[in-house]
Amino acid sequence: MSKKVLVTGANGGMGSAITEALVKKGYRVIASYYPKIEAEAKEWFKQNNYSDDQVRLFPLDVTDTAYCKEAIATLLQEEGYIDVLVNNAGITRDTTFKRMSVEQWNDVINTNLNSLYNVTHPLFGAMCEHGNARIINITSVNGLKGQFGQTNYSAAKAGMIGFTKALAAEGARSGVTVNAIAPGYTGTAMVEAIKPEILEGIKAEVPMKRLARPAEIAAAVTFLASDEAAYITGETLSVNGGLYMR
Ligand code: CAA
Repeated sequence: MSKKVLVTGANGGMGSAITEALVKKGYRVIASYYPKIEAEAKEWFKQNNYSDDQVRLFPLDVTDTAYCKEAIATLLQEEGYIDVLVNNAGITRDTTFKRMSVEQWNDVINTNLNSLYNVTHPLFGAMCEHGNARIINITSVNGLKGQFGQTNYSAAKAGMIGFTKALAAEGARSGVTVNAIAPGYTGTAMVEAIKPEILEGIKAEVPMKRLARPAEIAAAVTFLASDEAAYITGETLSVNGGLYMR
């Protein structure tokens, strides 16, 4: 039977590439999407010609604790078990801290960080009982280094790394690995929304002088999801063209 993976924000730029790569590896992907964009998600499913066995569309508001608890409990009953969770859903609300409203702060913290509790908590118990499970959190180079105009995003992404290490310690004895991937600037709508002159400056800073391809991030996800990665836990794997070197 195919292994099952829940990917949040599956129809977005990064999520699409992750879904595609996992489907190619034979996983059944539970593709969660923000319920308010149902039509868009259905169109995405159709455009990609996925079969119902390959991809199941799954509405999930990752910011809503009660919604996630109920929806994921039902999902577990229906699917039996989820082998891999990819916490990928994320947004930006970039602005300098002086100008940042509390809504811009909260939106990013809720979607990018509080979602980790909302989505992971209802799954973690079953994963520990079953063993050999994977949790992969998509953080960012900007959670490692801090980025001008992203106090909210950098705080959330850095928080994801702390969560990853702490939960890795708790999951280890059950064979549940918890890792993060820290992409650099990647060719998705999120990055294309940056003003062109600023984006050019960012690209110039990247030693490889280009954006990551979404498939290059997805390849890291399929690796960490694999049986071969069973002894890697609590790690953050950077895929950033050299943008942040320690
Ligand atoms: N470091 C230091 N100073 C900087 C700076 C930097 N990196 N970037 C801009 N500044 C300075 C500017 O030179 C400018 O100074 P002056 O007023 O003296 O001219 C001042 O700060 C204001 O800058 P802007 O004109 O850019 O201000 P703005 O209000 O128009 O825009 C901003 C602010 C929206 C934050 C814009 O700077 C921006 O988009 N920055 C890029 C943010 C970014 O990298 N976001 C990543 C999104 S993609 C993503 O998040 C995915 C991922 O994980 C990588």
